[in-house]
Amino acid sequence: MSAPLIDPFQRAVTYLRVSVTDRCDFRCTYCMSENMTFLPKRDLLTLEELDSVSSAFISLGVRKLRITGGEPLVRRNIMSYFRAMSRHLESGELDELTLTTNGSQLHRFADDLAALGVRRVNISLDTLDDEKFNRITRWGRLANVLRGIDAAQSAGLRVKINTVALRSFNEDELFALVEWCADRDMDLTLIEVMPMGDLGAEDRLDQYWPLSDLRGRLQEFYTLTDLDERTGGPARYVRLEETGQKIGFITPLTHNFCESCNRVRLTCTGELYTCLGQEGCSDLRPSLREPMAPSLEEAIRAAIGLKPKGHDFDYSRQSVAGQVSRHMSHTGG
Ligand code: GTP
Ligand code: 5AD
Ligand code: SF4
Repeated sequence: MSAPLIDPFQRAVTYLRVSVTDRCDFRCTYCMSENMTFLPKRDLLTLEELDSVSSAFISLGVRKLRITGGEPLVRRNIMSYFRAMSRHLESGELDELTLTTNGSQLHRFADDLAALGVRRVNISLDTLDDEKFNRITRWGRLANVLRGIDAAQSAGLRVKINTVALRSFNEDELFALVEWCADRDMDLTLIEVMPMGDLGAEDRLDQYWPLSDLRGRLQEFYTLTDLDERTGGPARYVRLEETGQKIGFITPLTHNFCESCNRVRLTCTGELYTCLGQEGCSDLRPSLREPMAPSLEEAIRAAIGLKPKGHDFDYSRQSVAGQVSRHMSHTGG
C-alpha cells in the first residue's frame, strides 16, 4: 500500500462517505427545500466511476466506507455498487461497509445488504408520531420506515437511529425515543442541528436544542456513564445504566470534535469535500474522464492537502454564524 492520507493537521483520513445521489424521496425541512432542483442524471458519476474513486481511496488507506445521499437506496441499481465494494471487505482492505438511510426503501434491500457484508445501518428518524413525521419529512410515511427497521433487524443488521434534536419538535419525545430504542435493542444517536442549506437563520436558532441541555434531562432519570468507545464517527457515547443501552451525542455546536476528524466526503458528481462545514471542495472528475488530468491518487492527495481545520458553525450571541449554503443532501450528512 502507498503512504496513508495525512492532512495538514496530521489527521489520518481513513473514513470516506460517498453520496451516491442527491435525490431523496423525503424533503426533511432542515435538510432540503420543498422544491429542490436535482442534478441532471448526466452529471452523476456512473456506478463504475464511483467504484474507481472509492477503490482508489481504499488503496490509500481508507478503512471505513459509508454510503449516503440524498437517500442512497433510491439510486437505480445501487446494489451493484455495494456488491463491488464488498470485494474490499473480502480482501480485508476495508473494515466496514455501511450506509445512512431514511429507511423508506430498506424493506426491499435489507437482506441483500446483509448478504453483501453490511453489518450496521444508521437510520434517520426524528419522531415516532405519524403526523409529526409527515410534517418534518414533508413526503415521508412513518409506517414505511418502521417496516424498513423490522426488515433490517430480521436480516441481522445492527440498527442505529439518528435523531436530530429539535426544540419544540421532538423535545417531548426524548424519553419515548430512548425507551423505544432500548426495547428494540437499537442504539440511538442525537445530533445538534447544523446551519446548512437555505434556511431562515431565525428558524434554525429556534430549532436548536443544545445536547448539553438534553443530556441534563436524561441525567434526571438515568445514570449516564461516559464510554471510551469510538466507531470512527463523530459520536461520543454514554451508557444508560438502567437500560444498558448506548446513546451517542453528535455535538458540532456545543463541543467541536473537528480535532479528531478522520473523514472526507465524495459527492455523486465527483467533488471531494474535506469538511462538512466548509465550502471548499476539489473536483476529482477530470481524473476519471480526461486523459491529460492528474491521476486519481494525485488529485486525492492534493485535495487532502487542503483539508481545513474544522467548521465555523456557531449559534452563540443569538445569531447564526459559519453557515454553509449547500444542502445537507449534497454532501450526505
Ligand atoms: P457511526 O459509524 O455510527 O459512528 O456513524 P457516523 O456518526 O460517522 O455517521 P452518521 O451518518 O450516522 O452521521 C450522523 C450525523 O453526524 C451526520 O449526518 C452529520 O449530521 C453528523 N456528522 C457526521 N460527520 C460529521 C462531521 O465531520 N462534521 C459534522 N459537523 N457533523 C458530522
Ligand atoms: N443538521 C444536523 N443533521 C442533519 N441531517 C440533515 N440535515 C441536518 C442538519 N441541518 C442529518 C439527518 C440524517 C443525516 C444524514 O443528516 O437527520 O440523520
Ligand atoms: Fe432526505 Fe436525509 Fe435529507 Fe431527510 S435528512 S431530506 S431523509 S437526505
